Amino acid sequence: MQETSLTRQDEKALKALIDWWAEAGLELDAPIVRAKPGRAPAPAAKPRAIAKPPRAATAAAARAAGFGDTRKAGPGALEAAAKADTLEALEKVIGEFEGCALKRTARNTVFARGNAGARIMIVGEAPGRDEDEQGKPFVGRSGQLLDRMFAAIGLGEDDLYISNIVNWRPPGNRNPTQEEIAICLPLIERHIALKAPDFLVVAGGVSAQSLLRSETGITRLRGQWSDYKLRDASGAETGQTIPCLPVFHPSFLLRQPASKRQAWSDMLALEARLNGR
Ligand code: URA
Repeated sequence: MQETSLTRQDEKALKALIDWWAEAGLELDAPIVRAKPGRAPAPAAKPRAIAKPPRAATAAAARAAGFGDTRKAGPGALEAAAKADTLEALEKVIGEFEGCALKRTARNTVFARGNAGARIMIVGEAPGRDEDEQGKPFVGRSGQLLDRMFAAIGLGEDDLYISNIVNWRPPGNRNPTQEEIAICLPLIERHIALKAPDFLVVAGGVSAQSLLRSETGITRLRGQWSDYKLRDASGAETGQTIPCLPVFHPSFLLRQPASKRQAWSDMLALEARLNGR
């Protein structure tokens, strides 16, 4: 058999991929992928502590909060964000922003982590407990899975820039409400405009629906490239777009490991696009 030599980066990517599949209950026994014998089926998804409002109520609340129109949303956020012309200035503006009640119960403002020069920007939903403690996005269990997902296509922290729709932890890790999302939307939209990534990856339904102004669920949005519409400092669309890939949120994948199959195909779609395929 012909021997192939792997670079250290290939080896790291391969290990991350194998770990990721192993977590989903699969063993790689090249070239065949087998299910582990006798492995118990994945436990049913745990209900979230706070039930989501029904979709119709969500949509109505979203409209009431000006969702879909950042000029109405977020009293003060748009004006505050407009003052920032650099990522550093925006971090300061968000750190000083008092328009979102979540800030009052949070320990830290969670702005971003990763490389500000990376081609890919990932936007999640909201900080959890670990993120609130450390002041950095995606540093807890779901962040570790997120890192492994990207490592599996050879991308490390230096290749990624990561933030969230809201910058403060919702109490008890509940979902951010549509009002909180609407308030914070101009901040993340300014963040994306200043970062100007080549590719945007939106993790989970909250992020995908808010940034793409869509009411379609993540199960249908995931894996479908869309155009994210860039906005200027006044909140108006500039006419420029960024290719945007919605993916399952890693915390959903922790609860539903079987969905990692689709998540893997989304990672491959991203890798192909990055490599101009
Ligand atoms: N989930 C998110 O959406 N963002 C984080 O930063 C952590 C968990």
